[in-house]
Amino acid sequence: MRILAVSGSLRRDSYNRALLSALPKLAPAGMAFDHFTDLGAVPPYDQDLEVDPPPAVVRWRAAVAAHKGIVLATPEYSRGLPGVVKNALDWASRPVQAPPLSGKAVLVLVATSGRALGYRSLGDAQSLLTGMRNIVVPAPEVVINSAETALVPDGDGWRLADPMAEAFVAIQLGLLADIVESGMAQLLEERFRARSAEVTALLTRAANGR
Ligand SMILES: Cc1cc2nc3c(=O)[nH]c(=O)nc-3n(C[C@H](O)[C@H](O)[C@H](O)COP(=O)(O)O)c2cc1C
Repeated sequence: MRILAVSGSLRRDSYNRALLSALPKLAPAGMAFDHFTDLGAVPPYDQDLEVDPPPAVVRWRAAVAAHKGIVLATPEYSRGLPGVVKNALDWASRPVQAPPLSGKAVLVLVATSGRALGYRSLGDAQSLLTGMRNIVVPAPEVVINSAETALVPDGDGWRLADPMAEAFVAIQLGLLADIVESGMAQLLEERFRARSAEVTALLTRAANGR
């Protein structure tokens, strides 16, 4: 099972990037991660570019489309989801007939240097991704506070210092695998499209007086 791993921070020494490097050791057997590292190249959303999207957008959409499961590790900026992430979600929510970022299983993690912060970024991401018809792993929610001490070097990467935090992440990754394996996120999207078609046909018939 290949999961798309995305850091919502573009910073080289990002704690969120470090958190992503801690995941393989906590993941269930058979789960592996493909990292999308080109979010910084995705330009501001412009509907005029939909006809012929910039190459970075094509790459981003293709990476999302090629995976049934996604892990987003993101900071909180100014008490909310970073603009870079929101922008990428906007691009992946189109074209409206077949958005790449629908029908996915998504795990959102937040790492922050804040002490009791990060929950608004998590909430923003959960709300946006659910509204885009994805299934977001609901619990146990993971916000890593004081990331500068919560993450410690481990070989080539990083690990979480707190075993309880590790356990929560391991549970979340297990649930992510369960959602992907069950196909429930894809089923939700299929049912959405089928029901939308039914209702549209019904309304069209009503409008035509038949
Ligand atoms: C523009 C900006 C706004 C920030 N706002 C918040 C915030 O609202 N809440 C928070 O917990 N941390 C905030 N921070 C601190 C980040 O948690 C910290 O910079 C963190 O290291 C960012 O994640 P990264 O290490 O993955 O880049 C902010 C940082 C920046 C640069």
